[in-house]
Amino acid sequence: MARMTTDSPSGAAQPALTPQEALKRAAARAALDELVDGTIVGVGTGSTVNHFIDVLAERQTRYRGAVSSSEASTRRMQALGIPVFDLNEVVDNGWPIPVYVDGADELNCDLEMIKGGGGALTREKIVAAAADRFICIVDRSKLVDMLGQFPLPVEVIPMARASIAARLRELGAQVTEREGFVTDNGNRILDAAGLRIERPAQLERAMNDWAGVVTVGLFAIKAADVALIATPEGVERRSRALD
Ligand code: 5RP
Repeated sequence: MARMTTDSPSGAAQPALTPQEALKRAAARAALDELVDGTIVGVGTGSTVNHFIDVLAERQTRYRGAVSSSEASTRRMQALGIPVFDLNEVVDNGWPIPVYVDGADELNCDLEMIKGGGGALTREKIVAAAADRFICIVDRSKLVDMLGQFPLPVEVIPMARASIAARLRELGAQVTEREGFVTDNGNRILDAAGLRIERPAQLERAMNDWAGVVTVGLFAIKAADVALIATPEGVERRSRALD
């Protein structure tokens, strides 16, 4: 179970932001306090992470650079002058990645997540696995009692699309292929709606074994270590019981 403390957002929201974007910005800004000076930061993908990239760009003296989880995040960081390193170079050199910061489509009380709404789930899982701690930044709309209301994204090798869709239907899902979408890795995304995911890590392990599945958008075997959940009252920090 998660332990809860409450922090105030460390910066004011910009006036032009909608209330929901202001919450995302507050969560993103709170993540700056989790960074380790002088190191590489892992950076996720999505609209909440875009806010994180923007606030990160204001703190360039404090970190060495970033490892990116998508072409979109790489472009945004490079446009703002943030050095983006190749993950292989970082690992080969033994440079630590103490923190990976990313959003989520759903987050439960054990800090397990559904991710992949933006289709970047494979690289997100790779960078998250290379980092010491996963910091999840969300607004409170992402909190759920049980994962599965958000359709579960599954990245598949194109020739396995029909067989994976059939297996998902056997689990009771309504499956749609994401129209016209090709991942950064050249694969397709199936979205599986209507699953009640009572044991996320068990389902993630099972689906990892399906031939043709590249990545399932469950992040439960390695859940978030810290969640920064923005509410109108402030940013709530939850961490897994181990720390
Ligand atoms: C992209 C993701 C995103 O983290 C997730 O979709 C949340 O995005 P947003 O911050 O835009 O709500 O997993 O693949």
